[in-house]
Amino acid sequence: MLKRTVLLSFLFAVTASYGQSARNNAMDQYINALMQKMTLEEKIGQLNLLIPGGSPTTGSVVSSNVEAKIKQGNVGGLFGVIGADKIRQAQDIAVKQSRLKIPLIFGSDVIHGHKTTFPIPLGLSCSWDTALIRRTATIAAREGAADGLSWAFSPMVDIARDPRWGRIAEGAGEDAFLGSQVARAMVLGYQGNDLRNPSSLMACVKHFALYGAAEAGRDYNTVDMSRVRMYNEYLPPYKAAVEAGTGSVMSSFNTIDQIPATGNKWLLTDLLRKEWGFNGFVVSDYTSLNEMGSHGMGDLATISALALNAGLDMDMVGEGFLTTLKKSLQEGKVTQQAIDQACRRILEAKYKLGLFSDPYRGISASRAAEILTPENRMAAREAAAHSFVLLKNENQLLPLKKSGTIAVIGPLADSKRNMLGTWSVSGDWQQSVSVIEGIRTVVGNKATILYAKGANISDDRNFVRRVNMLGMEVDTTEKRSADEMLNEAVQVAQEADVVIAAVGEAADMSGESASRAMINIPESQQNLLKAIAKTGKKIVLVLFNGRPLTLNWEAQNIPAILDVWFGGTEAGNAIADVVFGNYNPSGKLTATFPYSVGQIPVYYNHLNTGRPFAVGDWPKFKSDYLDIPNEPLYPFGYGLSYTNFTYSKPALDRTSIGANDKLRVSVNVTNSGNYDGEETVQLYTRQMVGSIARPVKELKGFQKIWLRKGESREVVFTLSVNDLKFYNKDLHWVYEPGEFKVFVGTDSGHTGEAGFTVTK
Ligand code: BGC
Repeated sequence: MLKRTVLLSFLFAVTASYGQSARNNAMDQYINALMQKMTLEEKIGQLNLLIPGGSPTTGSVVSSNVEAKIKQGNVGGLFGVIGADKIRQAQDIAVKQSRLKIPLIFGSDVIHGHKTTFPIPLGLSCSWDTALIRRTATIAAREGAADGLSWAFSPMVDIARDPRWGRIAEGAGEDAFLGSQVARAMVLGYQGNDLRNPSSLMACVKHFALYGAAEAGRDYNTVDMSRVRMYNEYLPPYKAAVEAGTGSVMSSFNTIDQIPATGNKWLLTDLLRKEWGFNGFVVSDYTSLNEMGSHGMGDLATISALALNAGLDMDMVGEGFLTTLKKSLQEGKVTQQAIDQACRRILEAKYKLGLFSDPYRGISASRAAEILTPENRMAAREAAAHSFVLLKNENQLLPLKKSGTIAVIGPLADSKRNMLGTWSVSGDWQQSVSVIEGIRTVVGNKATILYAKGANISDDRNFVRRVNMLGMEVDTTEKRSADEMLNEAVQVAQEADVVIAAVGEAADMSGESASRAMINIPESQQNLLKAIAKTGKKIVLVLFNGRPLTLNWEAQNIPAILDVWFGGTEAGNAIADVVFGNYNPSGKLTATFPYSVGQIPVYYNHLNTGRPFAVGDWPKFKSDYLDIPNEPLYPFGYGLSYTNFTYSKPALDRTSIGANDKLRVSVNVTNSGNYDGEETVQLYTRQMVGSIARPVKELKGFQKIWLRKGESREVVFTLSVNDLKFYNKDLHWVYEPGEFKVFVGTDSGHTGEAGFTVTK
């Protein structure tokens, strides 16, 4: 039997790899034949990605004469074209009116859903549920593809430890281990098993690399870090996406070793292709090629040649390749081979997507029915509920009963516009469910619901002008004064048994070009919270945010805080589901909440320093502050449930392991509270002595379990030396014998521990 299975799987492997290589041969033949017909201009044209006017843009440059350029074979792909009809029209021009009829590739920022919008990625990552995350990407792909797209500019996997940086909203937080699993789930979700499937999208992992480490949390700012940190703490999610088969990679805006990523040969060729074996194509970020001029790398011809020679294949918007490469070839600054190679990679992507057999990838009027379906909305509601993190729940204030009089107060309570969050280019906010709508649906006529706006999101006009650059998320039509709104809210609160305060950030207070130096709830809303708190009514704070915020006053004075990020199309329903106990929250933070901006960067997997600070005492000459604690407000992995989970001490089946052994680590987890619920059991390790300083804790495993009230379960993890490997000073991937600790618990700050040894 065993023999037969082995034989069968051998035959399967041979057939599969034969199928793959036959397909590759067919692709090579097709592309060789095509490239023989292509002029130099047409080859360079494939390297050009444009955004026609009228699309939402993230830079000041918009492409012109796009139609004429497509006809001339000067365009490889478009983005920012929204809707199947428009995409069909543009594709028609390419395949009917250009000489070689090469189809265009159509990209878009499908970041957390297409029309059905899921929670922002930071929120989604707090579910710690990779199957769910993968499902959201699959749905996004299906909707995007039905709408004519073939390429998603996602996943964004930049590790971020600085919540001032607005783009922390777009990633999976601060941890490389979790970030790698999310990266993989998303690539597999978008791409499925075969890109020829017309319901898939090609993924584009971004922003390669290290974009999340911008100094001072200021977007597009300088990045500088050691190789050891890079390899161990920042690169793994990009690598995981490459290993999962991402078809494309987007280079980042920042410098690495003081060379812009878009022109960094070490990054784009040595690391990405030679070390990691990536065989897809690399696209620049929005004009990041041209921006190398501002980085001080030379004129457009010089930087375009630099980028091509570094390994960039496609130029987003900047037209540096289009306008300079021909001359650079004549001058010997680039080779024909380099141009051919980049062109080939773009054509290969199109081939893999099946665009040469069907340039429209099966778009039809009937496929519109696949978009924003009730099932997709249900999935969005479920995903949103799983993304929420319960930060505080004094005296079990939550879940609320569906009875009595409930006041819903705050500028985000009745704001469909702010539910989707940053980067929802195809999402329609008018289709989203606001907090008050969700509450009315879920509570029905069982309770009386009162409403007051209470405050503007912000009263700082200059700030509001900047936030509202892409649309009026902060309502500026309010005629009443701050006092009038506040008084009304206080009165409404006084009439109620309990207050739900929907406050926080507007959607575009995070995301690209949305750095904040002060990451608190804006003053107008803090005043509102303080005024309601004075009434003595119990407050449930429903917090909207695209980043960790500093919440010290709130954490001390408000009894219940539910972090709902930006939940997407179904945000309001999901919030009501959780607030009223239809779903018991289970989200866990994937980015540390600082106590103060002064602590940033603050993250759980830091090094110990030579003068570590011990909690509780304050001897001088330790690594600490005079004025604030070292501990964050809420650590990585933190999140409460309506029930309680108690943990036994971790038990190990042995005290030492060698190269071929497995260590069994088990804990008993008991649901000791009053509700059924889900818990994410987290396992961390620490190498006590190493050839380089090692972090005080590193996440190495997690399991999400569901326990009925009163139920206990043994949760088992298996560790081997492979889990203990890291990049040493020579950037070799090694484990080192010696003493280790293993920690298991409910968050990075609350764990039980045990010790073991790794032998030679
Ligand atoms: C962003 C990318 C995005 C691109 C295209 C850029 O400004 O950095 O994340 O994919 O615009 O919209």
